Order: sequence, then C-alpha cells, then structure tokens
Amino acid sequence: MTDDKAGQMKIRPIDQADRGRVDAFIVRQWYTTQMVVHGQVLDLGSADGFYTCDGDEITGLITYRVSGKEMEILSLDSLRERRGTGTLLLNAAIGKARDSGLERIMLITTNDNLPALRFYQKRGFDLVRIHRNALEQARKIKPEIPLTGMDSIPLRHEIELEMMLKEEKTEAGNDQSTVL
Ligand SMILES: CC(C)(COP(=O)(O)OP(=O)(O)OC[C@H]1O[C@@H](n2cnc3c(N)ncnc32)[C@H](O)[C@@H]1OP(=O)(O)O)[C@@H](O)C(=O)NCCC(=O)NCCS
Repeated sequence: MTDDKAGQMKIRPIDQADRGRVDAFIVRQWYTTQMVVHGQVLDLGSADGFYTCDGDEITGLITYRVSGKEMEILSLDSLRERRGTGTLLLNAAIGKARDSGLERIMLITTNDNLPALRFYQKRGFDLVRIHRNALEQARKIKPEIPLTGMDSIPLRHEIELEMMLKEEKTEAGNDQSTVL
C-alpha cells in the first residue's frame, strides 16, 4: 500500500480478500460486473487492478487484463473527481505494464465520453481506431445499453486509444531508457 502526495489517499492492488467490496463498487458504478467490449462479455469481477481508498471506503478503481505483451484497461472510475485519484490509478496501471515488460496499453471508451477522451489524451494515450456502430452490436448482447450517453450524445461507437511502451537503445546499444 502507498500514500499519495497529500498522504490521505491509499492505493492498493486488488487481492482476493478485497474481491467482495471491489465487486460491490463496480456494481454501484455500472449496475453489473459484466460489460460488453469488442462484442464480447467481460467480467470485471475477476479482473486485476488497483483501488484507492479512504479508510474502508473505496474511492476509485482501475481494472485491466493482460494478453501477450499488451495490457487492456477495462475500467477506470473515480468517486472523488479532480483530486488526482484517476491519475494515480492510471499511473499505477502504467507502472505495472512497464514493470511487466509490456509493449502496449490500450483501452476502449465510447464516442460520448468526451471527458475520458480528454483525460487519456492528456496523459499520453493516442486515438488509434473507431469501431463504428460497435454499440449496435453490443446492444444485441446487452439490450439495456442506452441509446444516448453523456450530454445526450448518441451512443454509437467504440473509440480505441493506446500508449506504446518502448525500450529505446542509446547509440552505444547498451543503456536503455524507457520512453513513451
Ligand atoms: C475520467 C476520470 C476517471 C478522471 O478521474 P479524476 O479522479 O477526476 O482524475 P484526476 O483528478 O486525476 O484528474 C482530473 C483533472 O483534475 C485535475 N486535478 C487533480 N487534482 C486537482 C486538485 N486538487 N484541484 C484541482 N484540479 C485537480 C487534474 O489536473 C485533471 O485535469 P487535467 O486533465 O486538465 O489535467 C473520472 O472523471 C471518472 O471516473 N469518470 C467516469 C468514468 C469514466 O468515464 N471512466 C473513463 C472511461 S473508462
């Protein structure tokens, strides 16, 4: 467990003992631990991640999965916005990916989520793909997905963002430094 700069917020990796309250947090945010991405049902209830807490209360959560050399961020939620929680969680996941020698971090958000597009782009993620009308497909699996999202924007497309993690060799070819 580590403290943030202000010494109030704690961040911890999810372990088995946390599973019940982490799942309760996910359900509170999303009504279910099941989400549909890439036309597949994913269960956040078994995903790895980090959470922030204030005493016993979970105040933020990031979940991810790893496949080969790639991490996919599955969810990021902050209950205490504009206090550094989201950045702390995102940096923990990026640190985990770097420490694990992964090459790419990707995530999907939806076309209505302009705050998330802003948040991730300001933190080194780049827009790489639009999966047009992906939500139409997702509604065939999960009909309760609404037709409109944030600010009443039609909820239609999945937008893929990525951060490449690369090892850059020096001219001597020995020393390596990690760059975005
Ligand atoms: C996107 C989200 C995770 C951001 O979480 P957050 O806790 O507000 O994130 P942070 O506090 O780290 O950063 C948000 C802004 O607050 C600012 N901020 C941080 N601490 C601050 C403080 N003490 N005072 C004023 N501003 C502050 C940050 O600089 C940042 O602004 P910037 O992007 O212009 O740099 C959050 O809005 C959220 O949960 N959204 C809903 C779910 C969602 O859409 N998730 C993402 C899609 S998967």
